[in-house]
Amino acid sequence: MCGIVGYVGARDAQELLVASLRRLEYRGYDSAGIAITNNGRIEVRKSAGKLQRLDDLLEDQPIVGTTGIGHTRWATHGVPNDVNAHPHTDASGDFVLVHNGIIENFLSLKEALLEDGHEFRSDTDTEVLVHLVADEYDGDLLEAVRRAIGRAKGAYAVVVMCAHEPGRIVAARMISPLVVGFADGETFLASDIPAILPYTRSVLVINDGEMVDINADGATVQTIEGEPVHRTPMEVTWDAGQAEKGGYPHFMLKEIFEQPAVIEETLRGRLQSDGSVILEGADFPAGFVAGLEKIWITACGTAYHAGLVGRDVLEKVLRIPIEIDYAHELRYRDPLIRPGTMTIAISQSGETADTLAAGRLATELGSRLLALTNVVGSTLSRDAADILYTRAGPEIAVASTKAYTAMLIGTYLLALRLGLERGTLTAAGAAQLAGELRALPEKANRALDMDADIAKIAGRIAGVDDIYFIGRGLDYAVATEGSLKLKEISYMHSEAMPAGELKHGTLALITEGTPVVVVLTQSHLYDKTISGLQEVKARGARVMAVAYEDDTEVAKYANHVLRIPRTADFLSPVLSIIPLQLLAYHIAKELGHDIDMPRNLAKSVTVE
Ligand code: M6R
Repeated sequence: MCGIVGYVGARDAQELLVASLRRLEYRGYDSAGIAITNNGRIEVRKSAGKLQRLDDLLEDQPIVGTTGIGHTRWATHGVPNDVNAHPHTDASGDFVLVHNGIIENFLSLKEALLEDGHEFRSDTDTEVLVHLVADEYDGDLLEAVRRAIGRAKGAYAVVVMCAHEPGRIVAARMISPLVVGFADGETFLASDIPAILPYTRSVLVINDGEMVDINADGATVQTIEGEPVHRTPMEVTWDAGQAEKGGYPHFMLKEIFEQPAVIEETLRGRLQSDGSVILEGADFPAGFVAGLEKIWITACGTAYHAGLVGRDVLEKVLRIPIEIDYAHELRYRDPLIRPGTMTIAISQSGETADTLAAGRLATELGSRLLALTNVVGSTLSRDAADILYTRAGPEIAVASTKAYTAMLIGTYLLALRLGLERGTLTAAGAAQLAGELRALPEKANRALDMDADIAKIAGRIAGVDDIYFIGRGLDYAVATEGSLKLKEISYMHSEAMPAGELKHGTLALITEGTPVVVVLTQSHLYDKTISGLQEVKARGARVMAVAYEDDTEVAKYANHVLRIPRTADFLSPVLSIIPLQLLAYHIAKELGHDIDMPRNLAKSVTVE
């Protein structure tokens, strides 16, 4: 994530940049900063923490000027502190830039720049870009930026200023969003439209592979290869509040729809074409992986449900015992955690009190702690020996969706990395899995196409007293998460169980019209689950099945079938959760609940 802005005109740039960044804070709030050109000099102010801290700093040390850039950060490389905050400058201080995205080849670029005598101040991937621009500059900022980004691989929206060319800003886009806004005698840049809506409604969306060169009189756009681009700006008709949610009525829905991009982002630069995996935050000592005897997984809530998938995946790939427990149980259990084991603590926030305590206990008992978390610099990441950051971006809705999916992707990456090193996964197996993983963003997009159909089904279930979610194996793991999603935002009683467990008691509760959701993607368990489905059907249940799009059998037994694209059964949780998230969302909407902030709950549970 991260939010970026730029301004050239006649207004006080400081005030405008900070106000624009405030409207982008939902994209990240680990640190913030601005840079303004003033009398041929660039001045920078930046600070860790929320935007308010930058605002306080600017009150003491204001910057005068009418051309500037700004950034609000969601950390990906380097902890959130003052030094890693954007903007970043080169050694001379004549070049300054802000960046949203990830420069995948930053390590090799940095090594080359260090050899050439460049000195680095931050741990960010971004800083390489400003050194590259300075190196490439020979009097024309546009050409310097073009040559610099030509050397970088990855995702970026980058906005650059140079002290020698006042009143000019150059920006480029590859994957990360960028828009230009136009008004009389002033031009704006931003990650998205709401940031600049109070100043203009005339906006041009910059496409991937394009560069834009702005001054107070307007902008010229061209491709990175130098081909001129002529497009007419659009007139924005919607309001800023709508726009912050990307036009979605709730953050939860927006975050559900962000999942294809999140899958791609979490894989980016890590999954290699041969199936090998680079995990930048995991540095296992020699022999550790080969000698690994057992893995513990601990987490709470949705993260625990991601761990249930992780248990089956890691067990299958690594062929060692994997034990999972809720963090609030594990920490008081006197568990037999031994040296020579790994403990994976999973937490979106990295601040859940019980998960931190369980992770610390594991470390005390000699286990090597790996943090699977979404928040760079979180307490969990600081406690852990190894870190695997999911890259879901800030998750605003209390009901977790995209962070869950990113945790699953993190687990698959870990399974590949460890399985190849242990030799329990063949190179051919890894390459095949990698191919399937790479296809997931497009398939997740197709799974989202069911949104309108699910909204109709939701209307028929909203408000029933009880609902049950069943499945076997990985489908059971997904059923637990589907059930939690529903109960936390619909306030309906919902229960998940392995399909085989029904007849051991719960079947007594199934009567005419009881809704039962069955997840049905695991081929080796298919017939068994169909039997469970027939058992509930025989008692009058109204059955909703989540199944592959080419499943011709399931419609004989289910009242509704929510179809997902076929993938390797092993990866199906990434897709089968999507209809269940949408079902929960639409039921809660039908019931008129506060979807993003459900009653009694908080986004991060930092107390026991
Ligand atoms: O930040 P964490 O992943 O550690 O949070 C754990 C749970 O509190 C969290 O997943 C909670 O269950 C969500 N609200 C579920 O949507």
